[in-house]
Amino acid sequence: MSVSLADLDVEKFALVTGGTGYIGSHTVVALIEAGYQVVIIDNLDNSSEIVLSGIERITGRVPHFVHADLRDADAVIKIFKEYPIASVVHLAGLKSVGESIHSPSKYYDNNIGATLNLVKAMQTAEVTTLVFSSSATVYSSSSEPPLGEDAKKLPTNPYGMSKYIIEQVLTDMALANRKWRFGILRYFNPIGAHPSGRIGETPSGIPNNLMPYLMQVAIGKLAKLSIYGGDYETPDGTCIRDYVHVVDLARGHLAALRFLEEANGVHDWNLGTGKGTSVLELVKAVEQVIEKPIPSEIIGRRKGDMPVVFADVTKASNELSWRAEHTIEKMCVDHWNWQKRNPGWYQ
Ligand code: NAD
Ligand code: UD1
Repeated sequence: MSVSLADLDVEKFALVTGGTGYIGSHTVVALIEAGYQVVIIDNLDNSSEIVLSGIERITGRVPHFVHADLRDADAVIKIFKEYPIASVVHLAGLKSVGESIHSPSKYYDNNIGATLNLVKAMQTAEVTTLVFSSSATVYSSSSEPPLGEDAKKLPTNPYGMSKYIIEQVLTDMALANRKWRFGILRYFNPIGAHPSGRIGETPSGIPNNLMPYLMQVAIGKLAKLSIYGGDYETPDGTCIRDYVHVVDLARGHLAALRFLEEANGVHDWNLGTGKGTSVLELVKAVEQVIEKPIPSEIIGRRKGDMPVVFADVTKASNELSWRAEHTIEKMCVDHWNWQKRNPGWYQ
């Protein structure tokens, strides 16, 4: 069913950048289920239009889709002319730490360039509400967990720096003009998939992140997991992270949009569970779900990895009434369900 522009609740018309991506598609589902009309802009650099049919199967609605690059100023301005956008959720961006180290200008150009175009178009269209996808990676490695929003920030790679610079741009804009309403969400480690198995993460090539790698070992696509370091000062010697279910994360965007309806200025929230899980604990949780062992080997540490990272989620809980609900087990069940249904990903 396609949505006509008639009988639309204009206040609930949201533009989602990067809406065919992993977190974006789950956020689009959460918004549609909450009654929003959604317009997606995505250049399909790291996603596929097939995601739209997954969203339709879950929600019964097809979001408006614009296949364009956010760095194309005319295309972005056109969207604001064409649709009565009231708010923006800005997820579009490149996200590989390793690639950003080798191609920093690509990351600064895409992530910062796209954001500048977007806010300029918003300014022209007098749209003042934006929720931005930032990352826990902006925090300094010297900050002690649990990481609160006030923890010291010092990104150590161009990807993290691009997020940090965008945060600063938004902060300066909000200082210069009280009309802006900005919500900065710092995600910890998103994993899982929609429980329907119709949308999920689609890494291209060999995954860098733990959960997608584990899934490809589980399905037999990769032979074994290399565990980066077993000699950290943690209970089992492996690194600890704050994994959060992508569906919980998606609800966080909705909560942020609702908060911004009542508040101007710039606001930031950490989105995680507030609990740490080690690499070995996640491997064990996946093994229980797939009911077979995951071949693995402990090798040397990965350069730049922090031993323990987890969030202080008090601010999101107090201000957004948002809390991650799903357990590690549920994250593994849903991610595995998605992986089984999409063994070759979208190809
Ligand atoms: P993703 O790659 O699945 O989705 C990003 C989407 O943005 C893709 O569909 C891509 O095609 C699109 N895109 C990129 N550049 C674009 C441009 N210039 N114009 C239009 N579309 C563009 O990534 P994701 O995991 O869904 O991440 C979403 C956001 O959350 C990103 O900004 C990422 O940096 C941030 N984030 C992700 C994680 C994570 O672990 N997944 C953690 C912290 C923060
Ligand atoms: C990575 C990104 C970070 C991003 C986050 C979001 C890096 C350096 N950092 O962080 O910017 O915000 O993802 O999800 O890429 N591990 C293995 N074997 C593997 C893969 C990972 O042992 O094959 C270990 C890692 O050493 C780490 C843990 O698993 O201890 C989690 O790794 P990963 O999923 O890459 O996430 P982060 O390192 O937290």
